[in-house]
Amino acid sequence: MLEIHNLSISFQRNRASFDRETLSVVSDISLSVQPGEIVALIGASGAGKSLVAHALLGLLPANATMSGEFIFKGKRLSPAGIQELRGREIALIPQSVTHLNPLTRVGKQVYRSARLSGRCADTAHTSCDRTFARYQLADTVKSMYPFQISRGMARRVLTATATAGNANLIIADEPTTGLDPEVSEQSLAHLKELATQGKGVVLITHDLENGVQIADTLVVLYEGMTVEITPARALEENDLIMHPYTRSLWQALPRNGFMSLPPTPSSSTLNRNGCLFAERCPQARPGCRQSAPSLRRVNHKLVRCNHVAG
Ligand SMILES: Nc1ncnc2c1ncn2[C@@H]1O[C@H](COP(=O)(O)OP(=O)(O)OP(=O)(O)O)[C@@H](O)[C@H]1O
Ligand code: SF4
Ligand SMILES: [Mg+2]
Repeated sequence: MLEIHNLSISFQRNRASFDRETLSVVSDISLSVQPGEIVALIGASGAGKSLVAHALLGLLPANATMSGEFIFKGKRLSPAGIQELRGREIALIPQSVTHLNPLTRVGKQVYRSARLSGRCADTAHTSCDRTFARYQLADTVKSMYPFQISRGMARRVLTATATAGNANLIIADEPTTGLDPEVSEQSLAHLKELATQGKGVVLITHDLENGVQIADTLVVLYEGMTVEITPARALEENDLIMHPYTRSLWQALPRNGFMSLPPTPSSSTLNRNGCLFAERCPQARPGCRQSAPSLRRVNHKLVRCNHVAG
């Protein structure tokens, strides 16, 4: 359904010396999502997860430069094509609740997006009611403005907005942040249900547990690069984790002992000639700081580490 090929994103930044520098924040990311598949994009804050979603939807800020290509249902997406599909075929549950229109009642926003994605007036109303009920939003909330509802409610309204329609691909950017555990479980279960109906889902999360719980495939990002692409069940069933960073995320889960890594070095001191994870990697060797690993296929997975053997 969706293929992303070699996506790279950079920003121009002014320096104190009045010249400009290019800051590379996403490098050469490729992934694909099939109908009925949930792909989880996993990584720490700043890894580039939201930028991947924003690039796909044509929402990057003006100072961003992007290369790479998107193929949706077999066709290469042009910027105009992206505008055409956004909200209709591809729906975003954005990370920030500021994406709600502050001047429009929330019920109207959910209804509108159901209409935009192809539902007729009647089914849009029914679907709107159903999604409100599913996310435990009382009918009275429909007539409220975004400033009158809590952040948790706003997040549920955003999820309702993206899922009330007929979109074939749902991009859910940290959809459970700020939700209580019960609603968070329901939100993940709903994404799973949408996938069962044949929709493609990209779940963006810093929480590996969420990914393992519902995703088919995990794409693990570190400093804007893919370090591992693996079936999610490989972690749960066999603990077959290849990349040391994925392993450290796994070991940091409460059920695996909360083991933590040394802090991330600042991006200005990061050695970009070698492996970006080298300063924190428990398996690092001297050579890791000299040569940057490339993404390679090992045992049907993709992994970016010089020292993983098949
Ligand atoms: N407009 C911008 N100008 C310059 N740098 C930016 C801009 N937007 C994002 N970045 C940088 O790009 C990197 C990736 O940002 P992104 O928002 O994709 O991270 P993320 O993985 O979604 O993090 P989080 O989990 O905190 O949401 C960050 O280091 C961020 O500082
Ligand atoms: S290349 Fe070296 S530093 Fe990088 S992940 Fe592999 S072992 Fe660790
Ligand atoms: Mg983000």
